Amino acid sequence: MPRVNSPAELEERRQKILSKRDPNKPCITICSGTGCHAYGSEKVNAALEKEVKKQGLKAKVDIRRTGCHGFCERGTLVVIYPEEICYVHVQPEDAAEVVRSAKENKVIDRLLYVNPTTGEKVIHESEIPFYNYQNRIVFGNNRRIDPKSIDDYIALGGYSALSKALSQMTLEEVIEEVKRAGLRGRGGGGFPTGAKWQTTRDTIGEPKYVIVNCDEGDPGAYMDRSLMEGNPHSVLEGLTIGAYAIGSHEGFIYVRAEYPLAVENVGIAIQQAERCGLLGKNILGSGFDFEVKVHRGAGAFVSGESSALMTAIEGNVGEPRPKYIHTSEKGIRDRPSCLNNVETWANVPLIITNGATWYASIGTEGSKGTKIFSLVGKVNNTGLVEVPMGITLRDIVYKIGGGIPGGKKFKAVQTGGPSGGCIPEKLLDSRVDFDELARLGSMMGSGGMIVMDEDTCMVDTARYFLDFLADESCGKCTPCREGIKQMLDILTDICGGRGREGDIELLEELSEVIRDTSLCALGATAPNPVLTTIQYFRDEYEAHIKEKRCPAYVCKELVSYYIDPAKCQACMICLRSCPAEAISGGKNQIHVIDQSKCTKCGNCFDLCPPRFDAVKRISGEPVPPSLPEDERALVRGKE
Ligand SMILES: Cc1cc2nc3c(=O)[nH]c(=O)nc-3n(C[C@H](O)[C@H](O)[C@H](O)COP(=O)(O)O)c2cc1C
Ligand code: FES
Repeated sequence: MPRVNSPAELEERRQKILSKRDPNKPCITICSGTGCHAYGSEKVNAALEKEVKKQGLKAKVDIRRTGCHGFCERGTLVVIYPEEICYVHVQPEDAAEVVRSAKENKVIDRLLYVNPTTGEKVIHESEIPFYNYQNRIVFGNNRRIDPKSIDDYIALGGYSALSKALSQMTLEEVIEEVKRAGLRGRGGGGFPTGAKWQTTRDTIGEPKYVIVNCDEGDPGAYMDRSLMEGNPHSVLEGLTIGAYAIGSHEGFIYVRAEYPLAVENVGIAIQQAERCGLLGKNILGSGFDFEVKVHRGAGAFVSGESSALMTAIEGNVGEPRPKYIHTSEKGIRDRPSCLNNVETWANVPLIITNGATWYASIGTEGSKGTKIFSLVGKVNNTGLVEVPMGITLRDIVYKIGGGIPGGKKFKAVQTGGPSGGCIPEKLLDSRVDFDELARLGSMMGSGGMIVMDEDTCMVDTARYFLDFLADESCGKCTPCREGIKQMLDILTDICGGRGREGDIELLEELSEVIRDTSLCALGATAPNPVLTTIQYFRDEYEAHIKEKRCPAYVCKELVSYYIDPAKCQACMICLRSCPAEAISGGKNQIHVIDQSKCTKCGNCFDLCPPRFDAVKRISGEPVPPSLPEDERALVRGKE
């Protein structure tokens, strides 16, 4: 891997790589992201390589392992270029056919994606509805490059932004460009990136540090992981440009240790960039020196908070500290330190290459560019989606997500991670941007988006997030340590049928205190899930407290099952499926559920044949008395 010593040599290198690649030669790409890996992409890859060899096509067909495409639930994904033919759920047994089809430029019908709404088969990846409402400027290259190959990145224009910044722009011009682009931090708060860079740059103190935050502790979120695993050079390039602008010569990439592939791929990327002269001393002959180390995090949610993360990098336990002075001025070892999220850094090369005007043309007045969300929950298409700021929540849920499965009704969408908020159906036409989501009581967060259907209990949802936050609170400050626990106890009581008049008001009061007095944003934002569910779903809280009723039939202590003797046909299905042996009866005897043994698993309710409709689920009302033993003989044909 020869060193490139100037922008001209980088361009020469790019031309050389491109000259060796025939754009018309079929290239079978196999997604090797974590999702597809779990579906067995390694085996698919091995089978495809074997087949190419077996069919004597090594010179005629290329194979490339890529990062996550986003549509993980359809893994293993295989896309054949240049036609961009997309196959879903590919298995090792399909290898021979896939290789043959790539050579002959034919399409394998049975491996195509079928649109569940129209029943139509879709050939090209970009025509799948999940993709064609997206704008994948940051995430898009994941599917085109092997994350372990710097040449793949360079071939697509990689490192030309760094080259431009170092050779054609002053430090001030780089910061000015990022400011004009309107880039705001993607890690949660949406703080203007250029302004943060400026502060670190202007603060007196050496050395200055730049850091990538790839802690990503939000349950269900994996955007940063997929970028780091799938396109680590884009993050590295953004970081190096930032270091140049800020005047930093030392950077850290903080990755949670639970992301071994991200750690591996970014480690390889650093080594390759160093060998190429794109990191280290005298980068591209500019005289600028910059080196990067990977720091593996210990996996606590709170360690993603800026001061906690920097404390961890110093070698201490990753707990937050008071931030009377921002970390951008006094961070690692009290030196000016600029921390940005993975996605924030990955946006920087795009801004430098295409210019602030282009970038600012995407998005809304106050939120520019795109945002990657991990769309999960009760939605047909789950996965990673990159959308322009300003898209409506409805478009994400229905056009990209394909709506709610099983004909159920939409109830809410939760954005912003565990400290975010739940947005109800009446606000589905709200636009996704930092300020709009905050106005609704939620926040952008780092990009978790959980869709909930009518079977979700909003009180239980608030309880779930508070449970997570109580567990993850570092315990250093009293309002967060004790306050969240108190709120959790109240919510647990409400879900358990022990709620009392005044609980809602008490939750609101506690929220205010915790928000105003906590040491860090974990505590300060923890009340969000409670406050938004009270704001938008107060009737559900009241049903739990006043009527001891869970409208969604989720809170087990408020739900009962019984068998309607007039409808039971003694088919034995529920009896056999009951794991607690709580159902008694015989082939000719009406079944009865013993309430003292019932664990409320709901198996009997789910399995009772709809034509009988004998198992009843109730909440907020007493279970009718069961028939005495001697009246349970079944007279068939009553139906
Ligand atoms: C409890 C807590 C956890 C956080 N976790 C993350 C995280 O995993 N990733 C992240 O980028 N930011 C996280 N943040 C936000 C960071 O403190 C910081 O604002 C962010 O990394 C700055 O980058 P940005 O300006 O690019 O958004 C967290 C904040 C808090 C309070
Ligand atoms: S891991 Fe393959 S599409 Fe996400």
